[in-house]
This record gives sequence, C-alpha cells and structure tokens, in this order.
Amino acid sequence: MLVLGIESSCDETGAALVEAGAVGVPRLLADALHSQIEMHQAYGGVVPELASRDHIRRVLPLTEQVLQASGRRLDEVDVVAYTRGPGLAGALLVGAGVACALGAALDKPVLGVHHLEGHLLSPFLSADPPQFPFVALLVSGGHTQLMRVDGVGRYELLGETIDDAAGEAFDKSAKLLGLGYPGGPALSRLAQQGSGTAFKLPRPLLHSGNLDFSFAGLKTAVMTQAKKLGDELEARKADLAASTQAAIVDVLVKKSLAALEVTGLQRIVVAGGVGANSLLREQLNAACAKRSVRVHYPELQLCTDNGAMIAMAAAMRLQAGMQTASGVYAFDVKPRWPLAELSQTALS
Ligand code: KG4
Ligand code: ZN
Repeated sequence: MLVLGIESSCDETGAALVEAGAVGVPRLLADALHSQIEMHQAYGGVVPELASRDHIRRVLPLTEQVLQASGRRLDEVDVVAYTRGPGLAGALLVGAGVACALGAALDKPVLGVHHLEGHLLSPFLSADPPQFPFVALLVSGGHTQLMRVDGVGRYELLGETIDDAAGEAFDKSAKLLGLGYPGGPALSRLAQQGSGTAFKLPRPLLHSGNLDFSFAGLKTAVMTQAKKLGDELEARKADLAASTQAAIVDVLVKKSLAALEVTGLQRIVVAGGVGANSLLREQLNAACAKRSVRVHYPELQLCTDNGAMIAMAAAMRLQAGMQTASGVYAFDVKPRWPLAELSQTALS
C-alpha cells in the first residue's frame, strides 16, 4: 500500500510517500518539505493568509518531487492522506482540498489525519522505532501534552498545559529578547553562550502533584527580568536565554519522569518541534538512563512539521484496521481537535 501524505497545517508544506505492508513498520520512501519561515520572519510570526497562499504554490511541486525521488507514478498511490487538524483553518483547507481533488481524479480513497497523531507516531520513522506501550511527551508550538499510548489510536491524556505551550514559551521569550521567529532554535542557540543558573526563573506547576503544565508565568518573569536589567540586558542576554531554556526543560523533564512513574512504563517518546532542543534531549537522556527507561525521538529533521509523519500515521491507522480510507471527497477540517477524541472506533 502506497500512501501519499500532505501536511499544510501551519507554516510548513510537506509531502511524503510511505509504503506499508500488511504487517511491520511502514517505510518512508521520500519526503519533501518547504518551510515558510523566511517569508513570515519579517512579521515576527506566522501570517495565516500568507501561509495559505504559499501552501497553494508549494504543495503540487513537492508532491511531484517525492514521486520523482521514489521513482513512483501518481497513479500508483493507493491512499491520499492529509492533515485534517488541528491547525490554521485556511492552511488546512489547502492540503485537504488538494488531497481530495487528487483522490477524486485518481479514483483513490482519502484519509484526514490528526496532526498531533502524526507527531506522536513520527518516531516510527526512525531507524530505532519504539514499541507500544509508551509515554509520549508532545511538545510543539501549540501543544504540550503527556499521553499514555497503548497502540495506534489508543491515547490517554495524562496532563497538558493550562495556558501556553512549551514551544510558545520559547517563541514568546525569544521575541521579548529580540531574537525573532521562530524563537525556539534562536533562543537555544544563544543559550549555548550563557549560564542556565544565572537567573532564577519560576518552574510553574512543578510541584502541583499532577501532570499539567503552565508556561505563561515564565514569559512574564522573563519580561520582568529583562526590564530589571535595563541597559545591562544586551550583555546578559545569553544568560537570560540559557536560564529560560533551563526552566522550560527542567519542567518538561521532571513531569515526564513523573508520568513514567504514574504509568509504570519504561519507555518514552518525545515528539513535536521542541523535541529538537538539544538540552531537553541531553537532560531527558541522562535522567532516563539512570532509571533504565528507553527514550525515542524522531529524526531531527522530522521533529518539526512534515508530510512523512502524516503519511506514516495514515499508514499505521489503515494497517491496524482502525480506519478505512474514504471514497467520499467532500471534506472538512478541524482547526481545533483534541487528540484524546481519537478513539479505537473509526472516525466519521
Ligand atoms: O511541531 P512544530 O513544528 O509545529 C507545531 O505543530 O506547532 O513545533 C514548532 C515549535 C516552535 O514553537 C519552535 O520554536 C519550537 O517548536 N522549536 C524549538 C526548537 N526547534 C523548534 N524549541 C526549542 N528548541 C529547538 N531547537
Ligand atoms: Zn506540528
């Protein structure tokens, strides 16, 4: 079964081809990506209308690129998968519209995929895929969640952010420090030249006794500290960046360990853009090594949004018999879509 995956939920257009047998982990044949980061940089964040228009320009050339790279023809595709949500409504509509048009033209079924399920299953694209069950730490620009994952479509929410996401905390703090967009990579780059213990920043909800997160207060603390520094800010910026990163990572690592303890599981998967953060990887690896817990990450380039994870999630759902692809080409998208809504039953 050959699955074409299309991702267009935010500021990256992705296309990928995944091949799945009746059993075994599906295999990535080709993956192509266009990042809109440069286009949005001038505005300090994603401009939804510009994002949609750029997805329109990129999606078909990227699809042609993966067909060429894998030596496959479009009419060999068995299923066209696309991101149905969550994400920016206009951006999602582009991917959904193109996928359904391709499906109708080829007379092949289509399947709308949950973006976070894509992130969640993206470590299966790596050379060292995980085994179920595992704890998943989902850390993207819009979401911060800890889940218990027992199989494809079997997700139990253990805890989540009550305000900002971890990626948002990186992005907003970076903006306060004048580091531009996207803030996560920029802040963590600058942090390498600073000390993570230079400033004492809050670790919200660290001792809350549950697995929820809160990052909104951290951003305020960074702003207060930056104001206090005044003229000194420029000279201390790397220290403040490092301390911010240390606070975010500290909370993510401690809550992840708590989730492992609560569930009694010995395996954790990290997914989403913040999973690319090297301090997070370092500290989680060290903490898990001490406890004989296995940690799995997606390949670095597949941490942020991509088409491969969408094709993979679709292939795994179909393979598991969780869902059948649809020959109905009317589509909708779900800009807001809680992952916990995905159950073992087929989606309508
Ligand atoms: O998963 P993703 O590509 O998009 C969403 O679905 O949101 O995640 C993007 C987020 C952004 O907030 C970005 O700043 C953050 O991931 N990010 C990082 C790093 N790379 C990307 N945050 C910290 N360190 C990084 N190296
Ligand atoms: Zn994402």
